[in-house]
Amino acid sequence: MKVELNLHKATQKYNVYIDELDEIKLNGKVGIITNPKVAGLWLGWLLERLKCDEYFIITVADGEEYKNMASVEQILEQLFVSKFDRSSMLIALGGGVISDMTGFVASIYERGINFINIPTTLLAQVDASVGGKTGVNNKFGKNLIGSFYQPVAVYCESRFLKTLPEREFAAGLAEAVKMAVMFDSSMLDMLENFNLKDEGALAKIIYNAVWLKADVVQQDEHEKGLRAVLNYGHTFAHVIENETNYKQFLHGEAVAIGMNMANALAASLGLMSEQEKLRIKRLLEKFSLPTTYKIADENSFYEAFFMDKKSENKKIKFILPKGIGAHEIRSDIKKEQVIEILREFR
Ligand code: NAD
Ligand code: GLY
Repeated sequence: MKVELNLHKATQKYNVYIDELDEIKLNGKVGIITNPKVAGLWLGWLLERLKCDEYFIITVADGEEYKNMASVEQILEQLFVSKFDRSSMLIALGGGVISDMTGFVASIYERGINFINIPTTLLAQVDASVGGKTGVNNKFGKNLIGSFYQPVAVYCESRFLKTLPEREFAAGLAEAVKMAVMFDSSMLDMLENFNLKDEGALAKIIYNAVWLKADVVQQDEHEKGLRAVLNYGHTFAHVIENETNYKQFLHGEAVAIGMNMANALAASLGLMSEQEKLRIKRLLEKFSLPTTYKIADENSFYEAFFMDKKSENKKIKFILPKGIGAHEIRSDIKKEQVIEILREFR
């Protein structure tokens, strides 16, 4: 299966291949950016399929806390030492942390070299590896340094997910639920009937999520409008991640709670029925995802929304479901209405 992206402003089209990686043939120097855990599991498999003149393995420490400028500097240093040039290629082999960092390095090394994403987590396959958002975190927040820079190809292999811990797998499913609720009610039906052991069904879910994301990114590569819908649940999730120092929840888990909070707000505004809200909650819980979080102080939780990149001109942009399979972007919701919903999570 393959999804073709054809971006108006991008310099090239690219394909996202699902379960089609037999061989990658490249010329010139290739830098594989990965981490020790993924390298131990899947680097050998990739090297058996990579045909190129010369390759270099660059490993960075594993974890969101290493998605920072120090790791970027470390990768750049090794590229300079190995005399990479503009005809060289980078390959990101890993989850979203690796693909975000590799894409960012690719976008700034000698003003831009090509890179390929080979995502090894479900979250990176259904979301992070597609669409060209790259970047790192700093002390002011998540993904605040970065660029829009597209890969030249993406290879999603469902085989990688066999070694993924269950919790990480579920976190990826949260992003698939996000796509379904925002854009495609039939995908929600599919997720409800999803059998974790059925590889064909998994590939289909990856395909659907990538197809939906590609459609959004083609319309709005630089997030001037529609692309913001991909942040459903994230406005709440970022506050939860921040309050818990990124330690208690995986990103997808915080998104699951965030979606449940956004749904509560949507239901209170009449955008979604109580039954629809419960249907999504039940699905998230079926995947063992958390749906609740104890808010200690709803006023400081509310104030933290303004740290989000999505808030503009002192207005918070809420991405809300409109039933299932449609969405609304709202910047007009009164503080009291939001606080009332946050209070339900005390
Ligand atoms: P991650 O990259 O930290 O990977 C999670 C864990 O799984 C890591 O310990 C990793 O080493 C391990 N792992 C990876 N593949 C494995 C495999 N096949 N088997 C066993 N273990 C494996 O986390 P993630 O959830 O993939 O990505 C989260 C990151 O993605 C965040 O930094 C987030 O900001 C970013 N993100 C970016 C976008 C985007 O559009 N660019 C979208 C969503 C998320
Ligand atoms: N993950 C959100 C986006 O790519 O826009």
